[in-house]
Amino acid sequence: MTTHFIKLTEPTSSLIKVINRWENDPTLIPLTRPNRNKSELESRYKVTLDGLIKRLENHHIYLIYLNDQLIGEMNYMIDPSHLYKKEPGTAWIGITIGESIGRGRGIGYVAIQYLEEQIKKQGLKRIELGVFEFNEQAQKLYQKMGYKEIGSIDSFTFWQDKMWTDIRMEKYL
Ligand SMILES: CC(C)(COP(=O)(O)OP(=O)(O)OC[C@H]1O[C@@H](n2cnc3c(N)ncnc32)[C@H](O)[C@@H]1OP(=O)(O)O)[C@@H](O)C(=O)NCCC(=O)NCCS
Repeated sequence: MTTHFIKLTEPTSSLIKVINRWENDPTLIPLTRPNRNKSELESRYKVTLDGLIKRLENHHIYLIYLNDQLIGEMNYMIDPSHLYKKEPGTAWIGITIGESIGRGRGIGYVAIQYLEEQIKKQGLKRIELGVFEFNEQAQKLYQKMGYKEIGSIDSFTFWQDKMWTDIRMEKYL
């Protein structure tokens, strides 16, 4: 099994197709984006080429490959306004292994390790992330990688007929 990561600089329409498949995957939607209610949870959004180009203005995006197959993406933003602890020099990270074949085999671990190296190289000292309380697999991974819980935001996202908490975690590099 070989994994590699490539920084996204020039989005293509074939990439848009794959990203839209992940963004509209009903098993991934509850895990990767907050939904304020049932109707938002059931909404589907289309990413366009222009939209992705715009996203690159404040997101550093890395594509995750397993044996040359694109299986996911991870990204960071610098000091976004939604940080729990507004400490300048913070990277806010997110990861989606969009293809189920890539999940549960340790790729998340090596992918985040790589992302942490890139963040460190940029001179940033701290990472913050948010994970929904029912996403146990992701929480387990972050704990294993040394992320510590720093707070939580109640009633953050709707799933399975109720609202759930967003857990915020941090790691100093
Ligand atoms: C959450 C997510 C990033 C975790 O990544 P992952 O690669 O699936 O998870 P891990 O790296 O922790 O690996 C999972 C299992 O692989 C095993 N593993 C670890 N290293 C391994 C290796 N080198 N070889 C084989 N297996 C390995 C581990 O035992 C682990 O199982 P455990 O948690 O029971 O110990 C990924 O599942 C995902 O993208 N999920 C959907 C979207 C999502 O939830 N995003 C996060 C939102 S906060």
